[in-house]
Amino acid sequence: MSKSIDVTDLNVYYGDFLAVEDISLHIEPRSVTAFIGPSGCGKSTFLRTLNRMHEVIPGARVEGQVLLDGDDLYASGVDPVNVRRNVGMVFQRPNPFPTMSIRENVLAGVRLNNRRISRSDADALVEKSLRGANLWNEVKDRLDKPGAGLSGGQRQRLCIARAIAVEPQVLLMDEPCSALDPISTYAIEELIADLKNDYTIVIVTHNMQQASRVSERTAFFNIAGTGKPGKLIEYNETATIFTTPSVQATEDYVSGRFG
Ligand SMILES: Nc1ncnc2c1ncn2[C@@H]1O[C@H](COP(=O)(O)OP(=O)(O)O)[C@@H](O)[C@H]1O
Ligand SMILES: [Mg+2]
Repeated sequence: MSKSIDVTDLNVYYGDFLAVEDISLHIEPRSVTAFIGPSGCGKSTFLRTLNRMHEVIPGARVEGQVLLDGDDLYASGVDPVNVRRNVGMVFQRPNPFPTMSIRENVLAGVRLNNRRISRSDADALVEKSLRGANLWNEVKDRLDKPGAGLSGGQRQRLCIARAIAVEPQVLLMDEPCSALDPISTYAIEELIADLKNDYTIVIVTHNMQQASRVSERTAFFNIAGTGKPGKLIEYNETATIFTTPSVQATEDYVSGRFG
């Protein structure tokens, strides 16, 4: 169910402002790709174009092409809601529905998609998704308690369970560990390593060690100055980006000289 992503000549706008310019890249199925680069260079903006979340902002639009296993996400007649079902997203701040039970949080996306589901199928799906997110053992005795009662790291894994419950093909993660302590961060990294057997994963991270630990390929984005568009500077095997990048700006960034 994991799918490839092909982006060609993508420009991303907020009204008249060109935020991200001329991106082309290919992402393999069953892989982890890291997006790195200084704040404001358009990583989140670009990520959101991969599941058509960008266009929910008034005036926001894209030019160019995004293909999921060869199918154009932006072709006329494509339902963006369906795109977002196939390409799930996990955000920086874990955002479970606080008053909803753990069980209902896992099922929230499925219910939103209007899928009718029997009690026993729902139970099975809740267990499978929580096991998939490495959270089952910690919460199995309190599935009817509110999601708000969990720790930050558990809440983020709950959000991952909610994302995988709808069985997406791609999982986008925008700095999923930036609000977490090192132990929770480690748990999420372990989880990403498991999930890549089934999903195409794209992760934005400011943590260089994390990028080198979890990803096979890394894309470095940069911006020439305020008001200028973000660009993809270099995209390669993660080991190459961190040891022998071909662009000076990449070298400067990964070695901590700026950004
Ligand atoms: N909703 C928005 N409306 C207008 N401009 C935005 C919006 N979100 C982000 N931007 C602008 O787009 C550029 C890229 O931002 P962003 O994608 O958040 O960068 P990053 O994730 O790399 O920090 C920045 O100049 C930012 O101010
Ligand atoms: Mg961002």
